[in-house]
Amino acid sequence: MSTVLVTGGMGFIGSHTVIALNESGYDVVIVDNLSNSKTEALNRLRMITGKDFRFYRADCRDKEAMRTVFEENKIDSVIHFAGLKAVGESVRMPIEYYDNNINSMLTVLELMNEYNVTDLVFSSSATVYGESEDVPFTEESPLGMCTNPYGWTKWMIEQILRDTSRAYPSMRIALLRYFNPVGAHESGLIGEDPNGIPNNLFPYISKVAIGALEKLTIFGDDYDTPDGTCLRDYIHVCDLAEGHVKALRYIATNEAGIDVFNLGTGKGTSVKEALSAFEKACGHKIPAVIGPRRAGDIPVCYASTKKAEEKLGFRATRTVEEMCDSCWNWQTKNPNGLSDKAE
Ligand code: NAD
Ligand code: UD1
Repeated sequence: MSTVLVTGGMGFIGSHTVIALNESGYDVVIVDNLSNSKTEALNRLRMITGKDFRFYRADCRDKEAMRTVFEENKIDSVIHFAGLKAVGESVRMPIEYYDNNINSMLTVLELMNEYNVTDLVFSSSATVYGESEDVPFTEESPLGMCTNPYGWTKWMIEQILRDTSRAYPSMRIALLRYFNPVGAHESGLIGEDPNGIPNNLFPYISKVAIGALEKLTIFGDDYDTPDGTCLRDYIHVCDLAEGHVKALRYIATNEAGIDVFNLGTGKGTSVKEALSAFEKACGHKIPAVIGPRRAGDIPVCYASTKKAEEKLGFRATRTVEEMCDSCWNWQTKNPNGLSDKAE
């Protein structure tokens, strides 16, 4: 059985990917420092899968702690999710973001090299395409200027991995550029659990729907789009999780080197469309007002999914309705996220 080290495996995308890996017959070892997740996620994973996953509470930058993980387990591949991801916070705390995201990746790479682990899947983001309006984004679209330190960490790590691939030709690396991951596992036992007031659309709508926040502010309705609000490529987190399994299989069975894949649906959904789909899911009106545009937002962002379809055999199948239903199911079952059952 092949063993995958999942860093950041207690977080939103990581925990859903642990389930998908388990379903596909992989053995999983999780590392997470719990800076943005709770130990309760491990119980939830047990409830869903019936499995006790090996879990190390460790910081990926801590080389000795990480060496223990590589020493105690025969790791075959790594999916590196661990990182800080809040755009606004990264503007206020650039040093912490560069330190956490870049040094985590470097430490994991050092240990992979030391323990002869060649296969790596990295969580990148569509944010590396910058502010271009040339949609859909293909993997060949030029990388843009990022508008915040978070985005630059993804951009820089991609470059670090391209250089690493050149210097270590036996490595097999997949860079996955996610579009907008949303939704939750169908059990409603795990989902997105942001600290404080959410910045992203789906968690924000969800909090308004449950009455924890007063109203949604739609950031601008005067864009050059069909209903004036921005279009984004929302992808169900369970589809995204399955994309990781496909990427892992792809690199294991293809020539060494580095490759990059968009993971999205290839469809744009407007803020107003997302809101009305969520209203259908929760069964009531969700208060919303139109506000000014948010700095840094591009009008339209969606993926070309051709390469992931052709090379990985990956196609997202879940609809925006399923994204809203699962998000609402998670929200109503866990009105306070997992914090009520924190360590
Ligand atoms: P998340 O915050 O839910 O999960 C990240 C996990 O990593 C958390 O459990 C956190 O505790 C852990 N972590 C952070 N720093 C760590 C460190 N130094 N050592 C060990 N663990 C650490 O975020 P997510 O939404 O699941 O995102 C996972 C990855 O995907 C991140 O790298 C993120 O930047 C990337 N990504 C996310 C999105 C998105 O919209 N959610 C979009 C594009 C890319
Ligand atoms: C944001 C990040 C991006 C990150 C991505 C996925 C910014 C500028 N960009 O992108 O780097 O990779 O999340 O995590 O933060 N909206 C509202 N009202 C709200 C919240 C959002 O109208 O309260 C709108 C936004 O203007 C946008 C859409 O909803 O048009 C989606 O927003 P969001 O979920 O934050 O994702 P992105 O802007 O795509």
